[in-house]
Amino acid sequence: MKNATQTTEENVGTTTAPLVSQFELNLDAWANLLYAGRYDEDEDIDTESLVWRSLETLSRVSGADGCSIALADWNQELLVFQNGPRVTRQTHSHDTILMKGSLGAQVVKSDGPRVASDMKRDPQYRYPDWIRQHGFSAAGCFPLGARGRILGVLTLYFRKARTWTDPEKELLRGMAQSISAAIDNSLLLSESRNNSLSTVQALVRSLEARDSVTSHHSLRVTQYATLLGEQMKLSTREMRALQYGAMLHDIGKIGISTEILNKNGPLTEEEYTVVRQHPIIGARIVESVDFLRDAVPCIRHHHEQYDGKGYPDGLKGEKIPLIARVVCVPDFFDALTSDRPYRGALDPEIAIAEIRENAGTVFDPAVANLFIKIHASGAVPLAVAQEFTS
Ligand SMILES: [Fe+2]
Repeated sequence: MKNATQTTEENVGTTTAPLVSQFELNLDAWANLLYAGRYDEDEDIDTESLVWRSLETLSRVSGADGCSIALADWNQELLVFQNGPRVTRQTHSHDTILMKGSLGAQVVKSDGPRVASDMKRDPQYRYPDWIRQHGFSAAGCFPLGARGRILGVLTLYFRKARTWTDPEKELLRGMAQSISAAIDNSLLLSESRNNSLSTVQALVRSLEARDSVTSHHSLRVTQYATLLGEQMKLSTREMRALQYGAMLHDIGKIGISTEILNKNGPLTEEEYTVVRQHPIIGARIVESVDFLRDAVPCIRHHHEQYDGKGYPDGLKGEKIPLIARVVCVPDFFDALTSDRPYRGALDPEIAIAEIRENAGTVFDPAVANLFIKIHASGAVPLAVAQEFTS
């Protein structure tokens, strides 16, 4: 990026309170913003809320009358306005602007800041209706960029014309860099999460291609597990482990022959012994994949029973990992209410009665009761289905 800040108009405006002293008065908020984009595996960094949070802090600490962030869409040569606390998408006449003509476009193209002391009197700038309606006069526009690429622009608006001092411009450049790093982190993280989800989907599809009996079973179990997890107020990290665990709980069946998986009739004792290996096989497949490590306990222990009579390790009560105790209830429900080669689907009420009867023996009673309550409410979280099948 260029170092020299470019001022495109003589400083003719009325000077408002210096930004530098505003920032000094709000060091805590400034520090919060610096850390806004730090990696925290317990909390997903969502770009939209990160932008909102950054703009909120920036409005407070800078005393600006409005702040906005527009992110670059290089494919379409557009700047896409993001929602902020004072300047929303609706504020602008359009959600996007072409990368030409505007102050922001100049910043993106030149990779350097631009400040205007009084846009009303400066012929170099367009003065769009929405800026006029807000009565903004001065603006400072700073590039957002990280790792050698331009991400977008940050703009501060003031109703009074102002003289921009060099320390202010340097301070705002630094602020823009902090925000850039945070946005870049969140974009990388969401890209990585999407790749992870695609990997999991590919694994599940490869399983379901072999095991025609349990088509979409993993998806339905994930839907119910998600609802259970939400009601139990699991953390972001626990929810992720739960959802990956639910999707992949039967992945070990990849290691079981299709003759056994698709057998048209009850299994022999020997065949059942082979099938009982699938939690161990599944855990082994997944444990070497870094982003799936938290889901391994769910995969290994989803057939444990609360009374210790399950498999593969005979764990009892709360020794069974929580996400496994959660997944085993919808897993049981969906198995009973789906067609099998050797029997038709059972009525959901029969499955619910079984769950009620086995709460405290097979199932964690708290999870079982919550599932019964959720089922009675008729809720099924569609969002997971949409995400999973998209
Ligand atoms: Fe299973």
